[in-house]
Amino acid sequence: MLITLVVANQKGGVGKTTTALNLAASLSAASRKVLLIDLDSQGNSTTGTGEEKNEGLHSLLDVMVNESDSLEKVIEETKYKFDLIPANSDLISAEIELSSLPSPTSILKKKLADMQASYDYVVIDCPPSLGMMSVNALRAASKVLIPLQCEYYSLEGLASMNKTIKEINEATGENIEINGILRTMYDSRIRLSREVSKELEEHFSEQLCDTVIPRNVKLAEAPSFGMPALYYEPEAKGTLAYLALAGEIINKFESSINVS
Ligand SMILES: Nc1ncnc2c1ncn2[C@@H]1O[C@H](COP(=O)(O)OP(=O)(O)OP(=O)(O)O)[C@@H](O)[C@H]1O
Ligand SMILES: [Mg+2]
Repeated sequence: MLITLVVANQKGGVGKTTTALNLAASLSAASRKVLLIDLDSQGNSTTGTGEEKNEGLHSLLDVMVNESDSLEKVIEETKYKFDLIPANSDLISAEIELSSLPSPTSILKKKLADMQASYDYVVIDCPPSLGMMSVNALRAASKVLIPLQCEYYSLEGLASMNKTIKEINEATGENIEINGILRTMYDSRIRLSREVSKELEEHFSEQLCDTVIPRNVKLAEAPSFGMPALYYEPEAKGTLAYLALAGEIINKFESSINVS
C-alpha cells in the first residue's frame, strides 16, 4: 500500500525540506521503498540529496502536462537508498502551464496511482506557498505532515493551513486532513518554545507527533555536502530524531492505512 506523505506549511523556513529529505533517508533505512519528490523550484531537497536540479529533456511539469506520460520518465536513482524526482526551474511556471488543463489540481494524484507497485512511500517536499503544485500534492496525500517551529506565529500558520485545507476540501470533495504536526528546531532552553509546545500538546494532542526534532547543527550542515544527515553524521541528535520519526510514522500510519 503506497503512503504519500506530504510535507507542507505555507510558512517558509520551518523545516519542510529538512523533514522530507531526512524522512526519505530514514524510511529507506527501515527497508521501505521510497520516492522523494521535490516540488519546490528552489530545489533544496534535490541538492540536499547530492543531485543537480533537473534541467534535462523532461521535467515533472512536462510529465504532468502530457496525459500519457508516466512519472517514471523523471524518476532518478540517488546515491542513497531512495529515488528522487528532482525539482526543475520550470516549476515556477506551473501555475500558468497547468491552469489551462482540465482538473489541474488532481494530476499528481492520478500519476501517483500508477506507482503503487513500485514504492511503499512517496515523500513530497512542498514549496512555502499554496499554489497549483502544493494543491496537487495535498490532493495526492495519504497523510499530511506539518512541520513547525515552536514560536508565537506558528500557531497562526497552523490555523491558516487548516483553513486552506478546508477550502480545498470544499472545492474538490476531497477529505484531506492534517495527520501529523511536527515540532522542528526545538530548543528546550527557550521558554517560548516550551510554552508553544505545551499549547500544541493541549490543543492538537491527536495530530501532534511524539517525536520532537531538536535544533541540531548537523541537520543544517548535511545538505551542503549533498547528504541526508543519516549519511553525514549517523549518531547526531537530529539524525536519531528523524529515525525515531520514521519509526513513529511506520507504527501509526501503516497500521491505520491497513485497517481502513
Ligand atoms: N532541526 C534543525 N536544526 C538546525 N537547523 C535546522 C533544523 N531544521 C532545519 N534547519 C535549517 O533551517 C533552515 C530552514 O529549514 P528548511 O529548508 O528545511 O525549511 P523549509 O520549510 O523547507 O524552507 P522553505 O520554506 O524555504 O522551503 C535551513 O537552513 C535548515 O538547514
Ligand atoms: Mg524547503
